[in-house]
Amino acid sequence: MAKNNVIIKNGVRFEVAKYLKKVAPKCTKVVIITDNNVFMLYEADISASLKNAGINVCTFVMEAGEQHKNIQTYEAMINFVADAKLTREDVIIALGGGVVGDLAGFVAATYMRGIKVIQMPTTLLACIDSSIGGKTGFDLPQGKNLIGAFHQPSAILIDLETLKTLPKEEFQNGLGEGIKYAFLIGNEMIELLKEGLEDGNLLDFVTRCVDYKLDIVNKDEKESGLRKLLNLGHTLGHAIEKESNYTIPHGLAVTKGTLCVANASVNYGKLQKQAYLDAIEICKKYDLDYTISYDIKSLIKNIQMDKKMHADGDISFVDIEDLGKCVIRTVSIKELEEYLTK
Ligand code: NAD
Ligand code: GLY
Repeated sequence: MAKNNVIIKNGVRFEVAKYLKKVAPKCTKVVIITDNNVFMLYEADISASLKNAGINVCTFVMEAGEQHKNIQTYEAMINFVADAKLTREDVIIALGGGVVGDLAGFVAATYMRGIKVIQMPTTLLACIDSSIGGKTGFDLPQGKNLIGAFHQPSAILIDLETLKTLPKEEFQNGLGEGIKYAFLIGNEMIELLKEGLEDGNLLDFVTRCVDYKLDIVNKDEKESGLRKLLNLGHTLGHAIEKESNYTIPHGLAVTKGTLCVANASVNYGKLQKQAYLDAIEICKKYDLDYTISYDIKSLIKNIQMDKKMHADGDISFVDIEDLGKCVIRTVSIKELEEYLTK
């Protein structure tokens, strides 16, 4: 998607109608999909902007939480959209974190074989990651994100003011993915995080993450190669999440996974030790627990169940060659274990 369809601006939630008209000039009706927490905080701002511009608005409110990212919520949403009689000219607005964004995006992908969606992320994780790139879907009892589709948003409206109400642990969770971006993008991101994400720095940080991800997605939308770089820290991260019985949140698990790979890279004389130490300092600054209390060997066993396993038993993971230089490597499970435990 074009960079000029991503607006990162304080107060953009009061101007939604203006951006909606740009991407969907014939739209007369909008369904806002949100969760009960975000509804109380921001839905009125968005619906007022739309109603003032003569747009008809209906709002679907889901219960907040990953446990509701399921087929029942999807069914309720799509029935709601059908009852609201949205046409192919109309638009769904996803207002919330990644759970709302993924579900609402999938409703937009599947209703009438696809209508427009505008993503309005309100968590740090959604601002820098999940609202960008068009991955949509929901979980099955058999696993996370097993139902889904690629469906690019027509616009992404990021209002950083909304992050002010985010609970500390949710901000930390987003920052977990932020540390991943620091290794992918390079030293300027490490410096920003070391300085602190107050005011202008937060805007700078989010903008760099968004630009980086957009650039990758525009080159490899369906994740046939380059996009896999965004999975830095995820191979181990998923195993840590699972081993903790999902008590360790995803973003934090990604930080732990990223730092484990960074440590291995230092041990193999690739990444400069200072970059690793800087990342540790950042974790301490933001109170992120970067330690791994599980045996790497048992995590590797867990990884064997990971969907990134190839049929021949090899596995792809993202390695850090240097700060700002990551590569996708395919190795055997034994090689991965040796690499991470040297
Ligand atoms: P979330 O959507 O569950 O939001 C976390 C909590 O924060 C919720 O309780 C929500 O109500 C609350 N909240 C949201 N915005 C708020 C605000 N501004 N103020 C106060 N509270 C607010 O979690 P998340 O971390 O945003 O997203 C996680 C989901 O994202 C997972 O389902 C994951 O699979 C998905 N994801 C998708 C992609 C993708 O590319 N599509 C990428 C990464 C993650
Ligand atoms: N979160 C990884 C991706 O969107 O590809």
